[in-house]
Amino acid sequence: MGSDEISSGGIPRRPGLAGRLVIVTGGASGIGLATARRFVAEGARVVVLDRDEQALAQLPGEVPGVAAAIPCDVSDPQQIERAFAQLDERFGPPGVLIANAGISIRHRFLDITPDEWRRVMAVNLDGVFFCARAAARRMVGAGRGVILVTASTNGVVGHPFYADYNASKAGVILLVRSMALELAPAVRVNAVAPGYVLTPMQRAEYTDEMLDATNAKIPLRRHATPEEVAALFAYLASDEAAYLTGAVIPIDGGELAGGLASHD
Ligand SMILES: NC(=O)c1ccc[n+]([C@@H]2O[C@H](COP(=O)([O-])OP(=O)(O)OC[C@H]3O[C@@H](n4cnc5c(N)ncnc54)[C@H](O)[C@@H]3O)[C@@H](O)[C@H]2O)c1
Repeated sequence: MGSDEISSGGIPRRPGLAGRLVIVTGGASGIGLATARRFVAEGARVVVLDRDEQALAQLPGEVPGVAAAIPCDVSDPQQIERAFAQLDERFGPPGVLIANAGISIRHRFLDITPDEWRRVMAVNLDGVFFCARAAARRMVGAGRGVILVTASTNGVVGHPFYADYNASKAGVILLVRSMALELAPAVRVNAVAPGYVLTPMQRAEYTDEMLDATNAKIPLRRHATPEEVAALFAYLASDEAAYLTGAVIPIDGGELAGGLASHD
């Protein structure tokens, strides 16, 4: 295997990623951060869009080799247009978009306020739509591209205390399937549906006791690592996944195989 086929992390590179422009939203933390790292290791030119300016300032230290880190709130279509216009000038059309930015609020359905509902939808559903449309317009013009979206098992089956989040992720799944139909054959569009992933988002809402209790119910008995989700994104973006579009792929330790308490 030649050195151009091996990443600096020693992982064999996935075909078709070296040199590609890869945009990762929400790339300053958790799954997005691990994904940015993975695509840099694949030899891609990686651009992170995130609303957390402090975290973005740390990004070149966290992800050496990242091509650009652009402050952008994905719920604001004007900020997205500005960010993509900046990228057009600096890099040309994107090869891959990973629409990953998302938020969740743990609260009872009966207590969800209109502002909370709108905020969750604005980031998780509107944000994916705005970013995907901006990327797709450029990819269709270029004749190729890949759009990947972070959905969730919460978009597939109901989970208590996250009704707004679940609805937003279910929306994202049908958006992905619809885009896949309209954008084929030039652009492939797929969703990943992680189960429980140990990230700052998850740590913010789960105590150690809650994490232990959840792990005991997951068939593989643990949370995913962000790197495991990043590896799935690398595969789906690569030429090895050339026949995959419109798919929603769970990465959930078996959660959707039969429900969380299925081994009890
Ligand atoms: N952690 C899990 O268990 C889990 C499971 C399934 C799906 N997901 C999904 O994975 C994605 C990433 O989650 P994570 O766990 O890595 O969370 P995280 O909180 O660690 O990271 C999310 C990143 O998105 C950014 N972000 C949030 N709102 C934004 C906005 N409006 N504009 C731009 N950037 C914004 C944050 O600043 C942060 O850097 C989300 O879409 C989440 O819903 C997470």
